[in-house]
Amino acid sequence: MSDFPMTWQLGDRSVNRVGYGAMQLAGPGVFGPPRDRDQAIAVLREAVASGVNHIDTCDYYGPHVVNQIIREALYPYPGDLMLVTKVGAKRDEAGAWLPAFTPDEIEAAVHDNLRNLGLEVIHAVNLRVMGDGGHGLSEGTIAPQFERLARLREQGLIRHLGISNATATQIEEARGIAPVVCVQNHYNLAHRDDDAVIDSLAEARIAYVPFFPLGGFSPLQSGTLDTVAQQLGATPMQVALAWLLQRSPNILLIPGTSSLGHLRENLAVRELVLPDDAVATLNGIAG
Ligand SMILES: NC(=O)c1ccc[n+]([C@@H]2O[C@H](COP(=O)([O-])OP(=O)(O)OC[C@H]3O[C@@H](n4cnc5c(N)ncnc54)[C@H](OP(=O)(O)O)[C@@H]3O)[C@@H](O)[C@H]2O)c1
Repeated sequence: MSDFPMTWQLGDRSVNRVGYGAMQLAGPGVFGPPRDRDQAIAVLREAVASGVNHIDTCDYYGPHVVNQIIREALYPYPGDLMLVTKVGAKRDEAGAWLPAFTPDEIEAAVHDNLRNLGLEVIHAVNLRVMGDGGHGLSEGTIAPQFERLARLREQGLIRHLGISNATATQIEEARGIAPVVCVQNHYNLAHRDDDAVIDSLAEARIAYVPFFPLGGFSPLQSGTLDTVAQQLGATPMQVALAWLLQRSPNILLIPGTSSLGHLRENLAVRELVLPDDAVATLNGIAG
């Protein structure tokens, strides 16, 4: 077992640091139904049965499809399960990702999540800043949107708030409006723009939840990663996840997979400890 913490306080709950990201459960392009719905349900049930109590989702995965599958697979939800969603985007009929970032659209999306997940209160909602329209960041106030979420929280529809795809300035702006329990940004072994953000959030006891922990739609490819993995008798994806676990105690993993085999592989990182020399070698990948 590792000698670093394997749980983190996410709002009012302690969650296991190895969680699950549900985006891969939709059809190709995160659009429409999955190729194998039974398998999607089996992945979710096995994740929870194996100790996952933090699942990241969104009503625009599918759209609606992923939340509905989560409900079918897991409802009534275990008492310790934290379902975290995000609002701020929508899909068109062809599957394109569009901003849905007015305060009224934000509020409507919260209600969509409540309905499709079958919840009266959502455990946590991230405001997903659309930035440049994709996964890039752009500055600009998030106050009108975050204030609306803060109001929904005060009304009791949301327990905790977070922010996603946000700059350091936007994170600070959100924290000035309401408590922020998690930040979900693009980060992995090869994409380390948020190093300073992670460290300052750790000091503030705020969770950092990297999206694309394995590289996303094009999983990480690195000769160095392959070599380290081979030396440790692990797979490259396991080493990439283990590196994140050791990077900072406030990092929560939400690797996405539609495969039971990959789920098992990813959960096994709970037992994988990287020696210091392997960490030093891996640190060189971001270069
Ligand atoms: N806030 C945001 O803007 C945002 C953006 C993107 C994602 N997210 C969240 O972050 C979560 C994680 O991101 P992600 O799913 O896009 O990317 P990811 O976890 O970095 O990688 C997922 C990809 O890796 C593959 N994979 C998973 N485990 C593997 C393994 N052990 N070996 C080989 N390949 C493996 C998956 O394919 P298989 O299905 O074949 O395993 C899939 O193609 C999402 O599920 C979603 O909840 C948030």
